[in-house]
Amino acid sequence: MGFPESRMRRMRRTEAMRRMVRETKVTVDDLILPLFATFGKGVRNPISSMPGHFQLSVDELVKDCREVVDLGIPAVILFGIPEKKDELGTAAFDRNAPVQRAVAALKKEYGDDLVVITDVCMCEYTDHGHCGVIENGEVDNDATLELLAREAVSHCKAGADMVAPSDMMDGRVGFIREELDEAGFENVPIMAYSAKYCSAYYGPFRDAAESAPKFGDRRSYQMDPPNANEALMEMALDVEEGADILMVKPAGPYLDILAMAREEFDLPLAAYQVSGEFSMIEATAEKGWIDRERVMMESLIGIKRAGADMILTYFSKDVARLLKQAG
Ligand code: PBG
Ligand code: ZN
Repeated sequence: MGFPESRMRRMRRTEAMRRMVRETKVTVDDLILPLFATFGKGVRNPISSMPGHFQLSVDELVKDCREVVDLGIPAVILFGIPEKKDELGTAAFDRNAPVQRAVAALKKEYGDDLVVITDVCMCEYTDHGHCGVIENGEVDNDATLELLAREAVSHCKAGADMVAPSDMMDGRVGFIREELDEAGFENVPIMAYSAKYCSAYYGPFRDAAESAPKFGDRRSYQMDPPNANEALMEMALDVEEGADILMVKPAGPYLDILAMAREEFDLPLAAYQVSGEFSMIEATAEKGWIDRERVMMESLIGIKRAGADMILTYFSKDVARLLKQAG
């Protein structure tokens, strides 16, 4: 059957009709808000490349999460800016460091109303800015595993509900799983940054977390952008190693990877709409060249349609407000 019997436009005539046949929805339940915890008190350092986002001291971060909880956003993911960085990134497992203190304070204030996820990586804590230990000028995989596991355990001791390793070392999911179990945290899930690409879209984040590498780049551990089969391998390995959620990152430029992952795996899928994706929309909207809210929603709908179950996005609060308004 074809035209004129079939007319695809019939079901597009009114908004109510369009709602009836809408295949994909972004809901507040899909959202995870990234937050940057720093030291000090009463600190709200604006991140210039990320409008509306701040490095927050623990007291301010806890206050800001009131709105997050009231809006019904289920989860936040925390990144840390420590007071001191060193060669091994020891602040990553310091129980008085910003992330650990923020986790404890959030759990005290909001209990089970907010899922507190922590990013597990070394780049925010090392003075050289790489995601692991440097040996002979390179990031040493196996030596890094120890440190990551210590960091994950330290986050759990502070009360983290979930840990999210983002370093891209081989074997880290399995290693962290074992160490968590050993420490009595067998019920804490791991959200694995499984297919994490070496992306230029992380630019604004590195300002926010002050985590740009001081020499070289991350190409020897993060994935090469042209590769798709390799992403499936990474994800299969993480499934085997005990990941509870798989992630693709960035999201927008890697929708094909998300769609492939959806086909291949039954675990929940997360997508990270990264800082550069956010900042590009903000900057273009500021120039008046696009409709900010519509592009924001369209970017997220695309990520859901490709197969994501949840989205880490800097738009989380704006989206939740918009959905609330719409009732
Ligand atoms: C740490 C980490 C990064 C991001 C999340 N975790 C930066 C990086 O790998 O350089 C990027 C997030 C974003 O750009 O929003 N490894
Ligand atoms: Zn890192």
